[in-house]
Amino acid sequence: MKKVHLLHIGVGNVGRQTVKQITVQRTALKAATGLDLVFCGLFTNTAGVFKKAGLSKLDIAGFPNGSKADLKKAVTEIPLPFIVIDTTAADMTLPLLKLALKRGGSVVMSNKKPLSGSQDDFDALLKHGENRVLFETTVGAGLPVIGTLADLLKTGDDIESITGCFSGTLGYIFSQLQTGTPFSNAVKIAKSHGFTEPDPRDDLSGIDVTRKAVILARLIGQKIELSDVKLQSLYPAAMARLSVDEFMKALTELDQDIAEKVVAAKTHQKVLRYAATITPKQCSVGLENFHIDSEIGSLRGPDNIIVIRTRRYHDNPLVIKGPGAGVPVTAAGVFADIIKAAEAIPS
Ligand SMILES: NC(=O)c1ccc[n+]([C@@H]2O[C@H](COP(=O)([O-])OP(=O)(O)OC[C@H]3O[C@@H](n4cnc5c(N)ncnc54)[C@H](OP(=O)(O)O)[C@@H]3O)[C@@H](O)[C@H]2O)c1
Repeated sequence: MKKVHLLHIGVGNVGRQTVKQITVQRTALKAATGLDLVFCGLFTNTAGVFKKAGLSKLDIAGFPNGSKADLKKAVTEIPLPFIVIDTTAADMTLPLLKLALKRGGSVVMSNKKPLSGSQDDFDALLKHGENRVLFETTVGAGLPVIGTLADLLKTGDDIESITGCFSGTLGYIFSQLQTGTPFSNAVKIAKSHGFTEPDPRDDLSGIDVTRKAVILARLIGQKIELSDVKLQSLYPAAMARLSVDEFMKALTELDQDIAEKVVAAKTHQKVLRYAATITPKQCSVGLENFHIDSEIGSLRGPDNIIVIRTRRYHDNPLVIKGPGAGVPVTAAGVFADIIKAAEAIPS
């Protein structure tokens, strides 16, 4: 039996579901693999519980309550072997992740920010080896994107290009445009369904897609900063100063321009998409036209798609497609990474 201690930072939507899946599956996992995953710490921004010997079922069920334990102390004191899980959306977890790795622990992230900050920080995390730092869910949630790319690279394939739609929110909006819905309405509908961030500019700026593109670009060998990406925002800079309500009203000013682009694409049997394109030398994020019959052109709704063209998958590219967000699938992806990291720890 291999006991592996877990310290979970960011027990929000994805985090809570991950804790639940692990708790439910713990006995079956022990029987199947000999791994015993033991939670020692759970933290949000405002709450924290930590016990070196492991949390009881009651501690886990009762979280979050009581006074907040010290997170840095927990990372310093959790016994080896251990895994720190980061399912926050914060950049301030980076020093804690570095500390965990320095102590000999492993790290699993659904949080993109530590990996899409500076190239130096990315290198500092990744130098510990692929099974010490796992982050499959940072691109495409539960879809097997990062692992597939890693396998292609390890087996000596050359990545020629990665093209994809990595935002379920923008996928939904662009499918609406295709049916003739004005852009402002499509954003309003997406917002009313809770598909956008509370401030839709967080989706429409393209920054989230750019973070995912930077992670992929770095994995295929680019040395790149976020600011190097050719990024096309879906709204002009002047609209960044408006309140959310003012922004939602002002969106109608963009309707005509986007409708013209949709119609122009249609006359060439194409559809407008918000896509990322990554090659070994460049990385861009913005509007692109795709043939209606192509993999990306036939994408509907909030699904993600990643088309990987390589030396081996040249004429017929490798395509990964499916839900690119959602709490149960993302939590399952985090859980699978935890198992991989735990299995890689020497007994
Ligand atoms: N939801 C998805 O479908 C999906 C898919 C793929 C990837 N992801 C990524 O997974 C991450 C989590 O997403 P989510 O939907 O679960 O977000 P969420 O519900 O907002 O959860 C984030 C959690 O992180 C906590 N947190 C924030 N800063 C912290 C800090 N400094 N120290 C400790 N805890 C902190 C928050 O605590 P408070 O509640 O106290 O603020 C909250 O519990 C994000 O990075 C997201 O991009 C999500």
